[in-house]
Formats: sequence, structure tokens, C-alpha cells
Amino acid sequence: MWALASFELNLLKSSCKGDSFEVSIDRLTIIQPDDWHVHLRDGEILSAVASITARVFGRAIVMPNLHPPITSVDQALKYRQRIMNAVPPGIAFTPLMTAYLTDEISPKVLEAGFLQGVFTAAKLYPANSTTNSNDGVTDIRAINSLWETMERIGMPLLIHGEINDIEVDIFDREKIFIERYLEPLIRDFPDLRVVLEHITTEEAVQFVEASHSKLGATITPHHLHINRNAIFNGGLRSDFYCLPVAKREHHRLALRRAATSGKSSFFLGTDSAPHVRSAKENACGCAGIFNALHALESYAEVFEEEGAIDKLESFASKNGADFYGLSLNTKTISLIKTRHLVRDTIEIRNPRGDLVEQLVPFHAGDYLTWMVELE
Ligand code: NCD
Ligand code: ZN
Repeated sequence: MWALASFELNLLKSSCKGDSFEVSIDRLTIIQPDDWHVHLRDGEILSAVASITARVFGRAIVMPNLHPPITSVDQALKYRQRIMNAVPPGIAFTPLMTAYLTDEISPKVLEAGFLQGVFTAAKLYPANSTTNSNDGVTDIRAINSLWETMERIGMPLLIHGEINDIEVDIFDREKIFIERYLEPLIRDFPDLRVVLEHITTEEAVQFVEASHSKLGATITPHHLHINRNAIFNGGLRSDFYCLPVAKREHHRLALRRAATSGKSSFFLGTDSAPHVRSAKENACGCAGIFNALHALESYAEVFEEEGAIDKLESFASKNGADFYGLSLNTKTISLIKTRHLVRDTIEIRNPRGDLVEQLVPFHAGDYLTWMVELE
């Protein structure tokens, strides 16, 4: 029988078929998870999405790609306060702030913010590689002083790992980034803690598996569920467009194997990236999938399909905290086996309460089999 330390298993059925033993469960209790990569935005969108993330995740690494981006300690402190103001009272949630790296940002700012406990990490967007990355880094090799400082103080570097060369095919941009930039970076700065964010390729999985323990990777729910066909299924489906863009099926399968492997280098990062419907359904639609609404349920479905529900807790609640050197959350959270229809939209309201826009959640109109039990 299974012996799972922190799982409560209520067995629905168990049967012996030949040598295989099938167990299905209707309730799963795990240590409260954290989201190691999320976009909470600002203003009306922040008001709509903050509680969605905070009701499930104990902590979240908050992306700094606002407009203008978070490049100073003061901006991060103010943004953290706006996030806390948007979280309903009674919910314990810790936003972990990040600094947005530019060509000009000073190592002193990073060091001061990190030592004061304001910046948990710094985010590298190659310039023009994704949403609000036009202030990002134009030449990664030109800012070695940042890497030296971060390596010395133990500040994690979070990387959007896509080359920003429009001559390179969009489906190859992650692979080429790894070869051209990541491999030399971690060779030259062996003690730098690096997270390759939202990985989408088999090459990224293999690279992380072959590297030392200072390199980790986050994996999103959507890259575990969809391949690139989803974007073109019967028409252009902007709700499935994100960056890095979903790849071929064999890449999705490699990501599923990595996420459910239990290996400590892979951990949960939703990359929930809300854009209002009018910005998605547009001649130049924004990249980003808003998956926070049922992110944990979405992951649980994948883990169950892969026969690895016992590995969900390491991926969601342990590996990331260990990588960041943080303690595990003390609360637990339960998922119940309940088939439920995912709503079509989330409303965005202005401060007067008028409906101004909508967000479309990942899995909208589909059924999910797990449901987070809210207190
Ligand atoms: C993100 C966003 O909208 O901020 N978009 C996305 O497609 N993932 C930016 C990012 O993480 O690349
Ligand atoms: Zn992101």
C-alpha cells in the first residue's frame, strides 16, 4: 500500500488487477503551495486577481513587469503595499517582490533591496522578448557586475529564457537562448542561483536535469495541458497564446515527465498573466494566459493523469521553498474530487463597481475534476 507522509487519502476504490494495484482518492491534503511566478498587475486587474491567488497560495513571487517596471526598492515597497491592500482581510498571503533588470540598474540597488528583505529575486527579461519587456536587458553579457553581485549575496536570478532575436524562429527561441546565453552564464557564475522560468521544451528539461542544483525551473499548468495546436484549433485562439509559446506535443510530454518526476529542480510557477479580453482579442493580441483561478486543480489533474498524485506536494509546496531557502508553509490545503464547470469569465470592475472588462480564465467552459476546498 501507499505510505504518503502528508497525504490524507480517502479511498474511493481499490482493486487488484493482476499485478497492478489501482487506488483512487476523493480528497487530497497537502502542505499549502506557493506560486513561484505570477503576474498580479496593478489597479483594477490587481483588485480582481489578488484574492484569487492569495486564497490558495501562501506566498508568490510577483513579477515586476509593470509599466513602468519595478526597478527600485521604493517602487517595490509601494507595489507590495498595493497588493496587500487588494488581498481581503483574514487571508494570510506574502507577496515576494522582484526587481526588473535593465541595462542601467545598479548592483547597489539590488544588493540593498535584497539585504533589506524587499527584493527576493531579480528578473531578467531579454529586451522585447515578452509583455512589458521593452525596458529589459539588451546585452546579457554587458552586465556581469550584476551577476557577480547576485552570486556573492545569494540573490536568485529569474530568467525569461527566450532569445530576443526576431530572426530566430519563435518556436526555437528558448532552445537557442539556453545554448547561447544560459549555458555560458551558469558556467561563468557557478554559484549564481538561477531559475529558468516557465520552461516549454524538452531541451530545457534536459538542460536543467543535467545541471547542478543551483539551477531550477518553473513549469506552468498551461504548458502541461496544451501544445501549439490549441492556439490554432478551428481559428485563432488568443486565450491560448502566451510566451514562451506552447510547443509540439513531445515537448509537452517532456514537461509532464519533469513536473511529475519529484525531482527537486522542478517547481510550481503558474505564470498566470491576466490581460483583459479586449487586449487579447485584438489585431495585436497580448501574450499571457490567466490561469490563477484553478491553477492548483489544473496541476492536480495532470499529476493524477500521470499516476503521480503523490508527487504533487513536492512540486507545489516543497521544491520551490527549498530552492529559495525558505521554510515550508505551516498550513495545509485540501483538494476534493468534484467535477465542476469552469466559469467563462471573471469580471473587472472599476472603483465605483461598474463592470469595465473581463478576463477569460484558463479551462473556461471545460470541466476540471479537482476543486480546492476553501475555508
Ligand atoms: C507575461 C505577461 O503578460 O506579463 N506573458 C506571458 O505570455 N507569459 C510575461 C511573461 O512572463 O513572459
Ligand atoms: Zn511571466
